[in-house]
Amino acid sequence: MNLDALRKERAASKEWKNIAPMVEKVAALPSIEAKLVEGDAVTLVSDATLDEATVAQIRQSAWALRPWRKGPFDLFGLYIDAEWRSNLKYDLIKNHVDLRDKVVADIGCNNGYYMFRMLSQSPRKLVGFDPSAHTKVQFDFINHFVRSNIVYELLGVEHFEHYEHKFDVAFCLGVIYHRSDPIAMLKSIRNGLNAGGTLILDTFFIDSDADIALTPKMRYAKIPNIYFVPTPSALINWCERAGFVDIEEIGRTTTTLEEQRKTDWIIGESLETFLDPLDKTKTVEGYPAPQRIYIKARRA
Ligand SMILES: C[S@@+](CC[C@H](N)C(=O)[O-])C[C@H]1O[C@@H](n2cnc3c(N)ncnc32)[C@H](O)[C@@H]1O
Repeated sequence: MNLDALRKERAASKEWKNIAPMVEKVAALPSIEAKLVEGDAVTLVSDATLDEATVAQIRQSAWALRPWRKGPFDLFGLYIDAEWRSNLKYDLIKNHVDLRDKVVADIGCNNGYYMFRMLSQSPRKLVGFDPSAHTKVQFDFINHFVRSNIVYELLGVEHFEHYEHKFDVAFCLGVIYHRSDPIAMLKSIRNGLNAGGTLILDTFFIDSDADIALTPKMRYAKIPNIYFVPTPSALINWCERAGFVDIEEIGRTTTTLEEQRKTDWIIGESLETFLDPLDKTKTVEGYPAPQRIYIKARRA
């Protein structure tokens, strides 16, 4: 597979009508000496006092990059209250794998929220995979100030196994239910890991002991591209078929309004209108309401 040809093709997305004005905003950002500090938000501080015009420019640029799905971010006091409090997911996974000196991938990395949080664990290399031109601009916006050496690839999980090098750890969070062939996706991740490498994955699941997966008719919680929502045992079967071993459940959550909700930083609806107003245990389509399962697995 010629990844460079694909990279070149996908880089052209920065010229798109909706993306080009965002790219211009990022290119015009001022240079600021900034420091990343630990917190629920990806937080940037500066020893310099920013003048009013600079603060306004950063705010207007961030606003032009809406919707912000993953976050939060705090840029010199500007709080980007994203739709998701991604810190809750990060808190659940962060202690399950040591990233120090590891070559790490975040597949479906969105705007890079988790990767910015992972920097504090000193990985050797961090690569984000996400084909979304919009979330790449958000990443570039934050990284303009962070100045990290994180690599953001406009590539998908399907390219992971063809990457120029292998990885010690792969995170694949909230992606598998968007794939029409989840076992092929898991095989691609397995093949892209070093022997003994670790996968951390989460997905929607349905609560049953049966080895089955829900196949939503058209939408699940109003999300159009959800193909399979497995039971925990079906998920484990998929991982085994893809060649993973030592598959361990590390958590389960029900998505609440504390974690996902409408804020000023998104456009359109959020969880409030995705659930049945009379029965919050169901989606508006009548399926079980979103619950997530987190697993850790190893490439033999
Ligand atoms: C539901 S979001 C999950 C974001 C984040 N990983 C999280 O768990 O909070 C799904 C992400 O997968 C990305 N995505 C879409 N197609 C993909 C693909 N083929 N490979 C990898 N990521 C993809 C989307 O752009 C989006 O950022």
